[in-house]
Amino acid sequence: MGSKQLSWIHLIFIVLNVGECKRMVGEACDPQDLMGLTSFRAGIHVDVSGRLQKWVGHNCCKWEGVYCNNKTGRVTEIRLPGFISTNDFIVQTSMEGRLSPSITLLTSLQVIDLGGLIGLAGTIPPLIGNHLRKLRKLYLYCNNLGGPVPESIGKLSRLEELHLHENKLSGSIPASVGRLQNLNRLLLYSNRFSGPIPESITNLKNLLTLDLHGNSLSGKIPEKIGALQVLQELDLSDNLLNGKLPLSLTNLTAVSVLYLDTNLLEGEIPFPSSSAQMPSLSFLRLHDNRLSGRIQPTIGNLVSLQRISLANNRLEGSIPATLGNLLDLTEINLNVNKLSGQIPQSIGRLSRLMFLSLSNNLIEGQLPHELSSLQNLQALDLSFNRLNLSPIPKWLGEIPSLCRISLAGLGIQGEVPDFFRTTPSPILELDLSSNHLTGSIPEWLGGLTRLYSLNLSRNSLVSKIPDTITSLQDLGVLDLHSNKLTGSIVEVFKIGSRFPEGSLTYVDLSHNNFSGTIEQVGVGAQCSIKYLNLSRNYLTGRLPMSVGKLGSMRGLDLSYNELGFTLPDSLANVTPLEKLKLQRNRFSGQIPNGLLKLKELKELDLSDNLLVGKIPTGKPLSDFPWSSYSGNRGLCGKPLSPCKS
Ligand SMILES: *[C@@H]1O[C@H](CO)[C@@H](O)[C@H](O)[C@H]1NC(C)=O
Ligand SMILES: *[C@@H]1O[C@H](CO)[C@@H](O)[C@H](O)[C@H]1NC(C)=O
Ligand SMILES: *[C@@H]1O[C@H](CO)[C@@H](O)[C@H](O)[C@H]1NC(C)=O
Ligand SMILES: *[C@@H]1O[C@H](CO)[C@@H](O)[C@H](O)[C@H]1NC(C)=O
Ligand SMILES: *[C@@H]1O[C@H](CO)[C@@H](O)[C@H](O)[C@H]1NC(C)=O
Repeated sequence: MGSKQLSWIHLIFIVLNVGECKRMVGEACDPQDLMGLTSFRAGIHVDVSGRLQKWVGHNCCKWEGVYCNNKTGRVTEIRLPGFISTNDFIVQTSMEGRLSPSITLLTSLQVIDLGGLIGLAGTIPPLIGNHLRKLRKLYLYCNNLGGPVPESIGKLSRLEELHLHENKLSGSIPASVGRLQNLNRLLLYSNRFSGPIPESITNLKNLLTLDLHGNSLSGKIPEKIGALQVLQELDLSDNLLNGKLPLSLTNLTAVSVLYLDTNLLEGEIPFPSSSAQMPSLSFLRLHDNRLSGRIQPTIGNLVSLQRISLANNRLEGSIPATLGNLLDLTEINLNVNKLSGQIPQSIGRLSRLMFLSLSNNLIEGQLPHELSSLQNLQALDLSFNRLNLSPIPKWLGEIPSLCRISLAGLGIQGEVPDFFRTTPSPILELDLSSNHLTGSIPEWLGGLTRLYSLNLSRNSLVSKIPDTITSLQDLGVLDLHSNKLTGSIVEVFKIGSRFPEGSLTYVDLSHNNFSGTIEQVGVGAQCSIKYLNLSRNYLTGRLPMSVGKLGSMRGLDLSYNELGFTLPDSLANVTPLEKLKLQRNRFSGQIPNGLLKLKELKELDLSDNLLVGKIPTGKPLSDFPWSSYSGNRGLCGKPLSPCKS
């Protein structure tokens, strides 16, 4: 009985399905839509994903990425994004060709998603606004589109999302965007837009995100920007905006992200006069501008602030104590300003603070002991101020999370303080450069096994490099220049041999009293070195063949030493080399022909050596000035005088 019922149901299903199939196969989709899609496909000559190949037959509603309204039969959505998510990961595909203007034939479209197809070129169809009146979402980001945003865009009155970022769009932003009353997100960042931000943008009463960063927009920030009452994110950074910051910014009551950095803004920062004005502002970036005046105590009204960067401006006066009321702060960056006075004790209340950067200001006085309660502080940069840190307070070495310490240019005297050897968190970065440190580089440094960057340059250290330095297997940056260090440097080239490539990227031992050979250069794991400066020492011997193994090196300076013998041919293998300075040594023999392979070379100095013969002819060697080769009596050929045959 039961099985009979089942088979009846099956039968009904089969009949229904056959009927459905017949209807679909026999039917073509709306002819206008079909024509539009066919033209679109014709504009694309490469589709790596293979999706367009599956566009067969006349029923375009069945095509991959095409969606129709099941009542009207019209195409409502094209979704062929460049980012395709499979079960486990996301792959990016590309299409090569031009966006066909015939896409405007699809007059019922509500969604166009062609974002992330890196090869898709062409322009936004000029009449898009006249035809696609139902469009709600237009995603054409991350393509290769050029030309302007058409004025007609303002007619897309239902548009909610306009994502055109990361293209090569140019011209000015059309004022007509101000008519898009339903717009939630306007993303035009990383294009080539110029001219002013249209004032009309302040009519977009539903705007949640406005991101115009990374263009060449100029002029002032619209005075009425405060009318964007629901705006949550505003990013106008990295443009050429100038003039004063409008006071109306403080009317952005919903804004949580405000990035206006890297512009030409000037005048004072309009901090809100009450905590009701910008109650949600969490991320504020105003760095790299020309802002002046004081940081007003009203900064304390930004009660939700988590990260603030005002670096690289012209701010003056003292740091207001009210900063210490902003208990959500995790990051404060006030580097490179003209701030003076003392560090307020109230900063010690910021128990979530992880990054505190106050370098290159005029801050004076003692370091307040209250800072010792910053349990989460990871990075502290107080370099180049007028603080009195002689001696460095011991409690600094007891802050539990502190691992990046920068105390350069603070007039610190005495030996490298040994409490750095027992900090609760392993030190990753230590910068005590440009002080008056004396004595030796301590043996215990080798115990800082997680150290990535060590800068002790510009002090008066007078020792050998301790052997223990070879234990610093993570060391990437070693700057010991301008001290009075002696002995051999071979140990340095044993650092980082735990990694096949090595860990070192930057080594500056210049301007010391090192002696001995450089035979170890390139022997073992040092391929990661990008910059090596051994200038102004007393190094002897030859430049070994193994230098050719430093295949990432961009800058090599061995000038002002006592190195000699011929230059190794293997230098030709260091293809990224941009700067090569070997002047004032005793290199002899001919200049290897292989140096003609160094196509990136922009600076060359071989002067004052004992080189002979003809300078190899061709770029880049012939293009350097006379002074690159002078002081080698035996050299001839361009740019020096011709060789006598
Ligand atoms: C037609 O589309 C609507 C909305 O997308 C959906 O709710 C409905 O189930 C569809 N009807 C048929 C027969 O597929
Ligand atoms: C900003 O708010 C003030 C006070 O609420 C108001 O007078 C002013 O018109 C607002 N400005 C803008 C541009 O909305
Ligand atoms: C080390 O510090 C000095 C200033 O004290 C600076 O000029 C130099 O660039 C720093 N080195 C590195 C690798 O950052
Ligand atoms: C190497 O160091 C010396 C002395 O410290 C400096 O004058 C020179 O500019 C540096 N070379 C390069 C290529 O940076
Ligand atoms: C550096 O070395 C040179 C030559 O070896 C020596 O004349 C000079 O006194 C040394 N300077 C210091 C400060 O050690």
